[in-house]
Amino acid sequence: MFTTEFLDLPALDTAHGTVSLPGSKSISNRVLLLAALSQGTTVIHDLLDSDDTRVMLAALRQLGCRIAPDAVVPGQAIEVTGIGGQLPADAAATLFLGNAGTAMRPLTAALAVLGGSFEMTGVPRMYERPIGDLVDALRQLGCRIAYLGNEGFPPLKIGRPDFSRFGQAPIQVRGDVSSQFLTSLLMALPLQAGSRDIVIEVVGELISRPYIHITLELLARFGIAVKNENWQRFVIPAGSRYRSPGEIHVEADASSASYFIALGAIATGMADTADADNATGRKSIRILGVGRDSIQGDIRFVEAARAMGAQVESGPNWLQVARGEPGQGWPLKAIDLDCNHIPDAAMTLAVMALYADGTTTLRNIASWRVKETDRIAAMAIELRKLGATVEEGPDYIRITPPASRADWKAASIHTYDDHRVAMCFSLAAFNPAKLPVRIEDPKCVAKTFPDYFEALFSVCQTERERIPVICIDGPTASGKGTIAAEVARALGYQLLDSGALYRITGLAASRAGLALDESNEETIAEMALDMPVRFDAQQRVWLGDEDISLAIRSEQAGMNASRVSALPAVRSALVDLQLAFQTLPGLVADGRDMGTVIFPHAPLKVYLSASAQCRAERRYKQLISKGISANISTLLADLEARDARDMQRATAPLKPAEDALLLDSSELTIEQVVAQVLSWWQERQPFGRA
Ligand code: DC
Repeated sequence: MFTTEFLDLPALDTAHGTVSLPGSKSISNRVLLLAALSQGTTVIHDLLDSDDTRVMLAALRQLGCRIAPDAVVPGQAIEVTGIGGQLPADAAATLFLGNAGTAMRPLTAALAVLGGSFEMTGVPRMYERPIGDLVDALRQLGCRIAYLGNEGFPPLKIGRPDFSRFGQAPIQVRGDVSSQFLTSLLMALPLQAGSRDIVIEVVGELISRPYIHITLELLARFGIAVKNENWQRFVIPAGSRYRSPGEIHVEADASSASYFIALGAIATGMADTADADNATGRKSIRILGVGRDSIQGDIRFVEAARAMGAQVESGPNWLQVARGEPGQGWPLKAIDLDCNHIPDAAMTLAVMALYADGTTTLRNIASWRVKETDRIAAMAIELRKLGATVEEGPDYIRITPPASRADWKAASIHTYDDHRVAMCFSLAAFNPAKLPVRIEDPKCVAKTFPDYFEALFSVCQTERERIPVICIDGPTASGKGTIAAEVARALGYQLLDSGALYRITGLAASRAGLALDESNEETIAEMALDMPVRFDAQQRVWLGDEDISLAIRSEQAGMNASRVSALPAVRSALVDLQLAFQTLPGLVADGRDMGTVIFPHAPLKVYLSASAQCRAERRYKQLISKGISANISTLLADLEARDARDMQRATAPLKPAEDALLLDSSELTIEQVVAQVLSWWQERQPFGRA
């Protein structure tokens, strides 16, 4: 997951490959609550690991459910042992539900019916998301719920219900604000359906029916057969009781699939034969985890994407998407669509509209206004930043793409703590003007798809020159390794510590018993060509299955590296390995010839320096802190000798690239140096300051 302040997406050219999608948020949190209310243990497969499911799991644990393991482990099922429809008489808790509507609403309903003493809290945005219609419906039954802040909004205080006055009258609930209210009642009221039918009546038009469909399908899996009378009345039969299905699979999120369907529709184009999926020579995107048999309404996004020109094939749990033929499905066709049936995925259509041949209108989307943010306003503002013309109404949005290539603008997209804004705007990186796109606060995707950007990058291609590289070089002990790592972290870029590659080569060669000189130049170069080297996410270095992070850091390993790095054949052998680090979204490369030989076209090269005295003091402190005794004047003499050798050596002498910016760090802290490098980088971006 990218936890940086912003993520810059270079302009992207094409897309091709397979993505496996994470479990659906809506299904995950419903399944968790249903399992929690049931008797017995439910084994849940493919549960989404996200902010929303984490708050739900934490709340259920507080309510006394047994959950094992403690957190979602990829590839491992999670077991939830339910409360069997009852809480202890003295149950009490304060539940923090973040910004998770899929936890707040259903839990409020379930706890209000079960009774106890509960405070339902969350982040400030949660306190702006309406819940009054649900509270009104629950009060008809005799539930006791009080507002702790503003009337109609969380936080809430839940007490013991008094069902004595509740007769046969139907419970009425508004259907036109959020379908989550009806979903919440449908999941809570079976707890009270012991001796009589419970009837729920929808007042006003029911929006987002597809989500009610998911609720009904899942209730059926947990033993509750609700009668759906034309989406207006729902009857929970007397005697309904939650029963665990034992085991359940969470299907992937159809709304998340929309980004990759759109990607296929926009970016697959014609392929080199080697890349093509079939004899037609077309590229495509294959999506695993959701398909034709999905119970999710957003799967109907496929129809909308087809209407815009996408070519979509599907199977029970997969989709395959390719761009339409030029003139038929490409550019995309503008559409005018009622999106009530696909409210979440429709945001993706708004960004696809940027690639359409006219004005696209998305209607009946009033619910966008009460989601994670006011999505109509947010989409309008951000689409305009890219150069689109946007008209915004109470329940519609109308988008005209930039008139020509020259009308596209490089934009820094504000994401409003809304995962879907962040994900759908990443598709703007395929703009014909080849401008980069900045996504602010990329970690907000964690709500439903923590590794969204990784998944996106894994199937996107762009010209090598568009993937930015920052080169950082400097003499020994100039702090370049530390600075490079910090800059990479701040930007979410890959890190190449080229010195480590020479250290690894030196280690491998000396272990093979080779003298590290010209006599073995070719042999060592051959070794370097196919070393099984791997850097993991924690920056550990692996040679095969051995962690050699420490072994390559010894003084001896440094000496060996210095020797092998003086052999031209070894240097050439390592070129391809170094180039392979230039991957999306960008790279920070540290080492002496990064800016001169390996990445001569890098848009930013920094040459760090510091006085020999200052570097000697830094090295001294470093050694002392490791418990190694040292002497400043000896270190100073060593450094000066090494500088002289490094600058004079024939192979890859230490010298700044001609276009490098020089930075003397003698008087600067690490933070100041990092800030300077980042500020130079920002100046080179078309977005201005973040
Ligand atoms: O930066 P370091 O100390 O890990 O580098 C180890 C050795 O490799 C050092 O002698 C410099 C050399 N080196 C090189 O010749 N070219 C590079 N790109 C990086 C390091």
